[in-house]
Amino acid sequence: MRGRFITFEGIDGAGKSSHIEPLAARLRCSGHVVLVTREPGGTPLAEQLRDALLHTPMDTLTEVLLVFAARRDHVKQVIAPALARGETVLCDRFTDATFAYQGAGRGFDLAQLTALETWVHADVQPDRTLWFDLPAELAAQRLTGARPPDRFEQQSPAFFERVRTGYLARAEAFPKRFVQIDAAADRESVGRQVAAALEGHI
Ligand code: TMP
Repeated sequence: MRGRFITFEGIDGAGKSSHIEPLAARLRCSGHVVLVTREPGGTPLAEQLRDALLHTPMDTLTEVLLVFAARRDHVKQVIAPALARGETVLCDRFTDATFAYQGAGRGFDLAQLTALETWVHADVQPDRTLWFDLPAELAAQRLTGARPPDRFEQQSPAFFERVRTGYLARAEAFPKRFVQIDAAADRESVGRQVAAALEGHI
């Protein structure tokens, strides 16, 4: 049986990444074979593209093409084979991030993103998406001082509010797949929301 494909989304500073490994550990304890991966990244080539995306200035079309090139390699080499083996795939960001960041954040044409999505991975779509939502100002406070900010983390709170609106639009378009997590809550509460969001779906 095909495995479950679970994605984690949210603006930078939402805290999603710190919940993925603990969730993977819990799932493994209950007998699941779990693959944890991320985007951009997840293969040697996609990690090289990630480095360029986070640190090299480029125009938005180039950014979109590199994101989808990285995704193509990741889906082909890692995600699709793991799902075919029946594994549970936990992926830190996927195509909803492209609609939120490049679409809503940078203003890139959404119809073109949809066309690329169909071209690159029409047959591989998340089963469940956990959207860690919180106001951009709060997320920015959480990021302060962590390490030198990359090209995305340097963006203004206004950019991240647009990205947040982009996620909201995706959640409204795919209400069965998306679960909104109140990421402003304390860590234990967020952990409980994550567990509840996956109940009966893995
Ligand atoms: P991360 O810090 O959560 O690993 O993500 C790296 C950055 O890449 C993050 O700021 C969001 C950005 N990103 C996009 O702009 N578009 C995408 O499609 C993906 C997957 C990430």
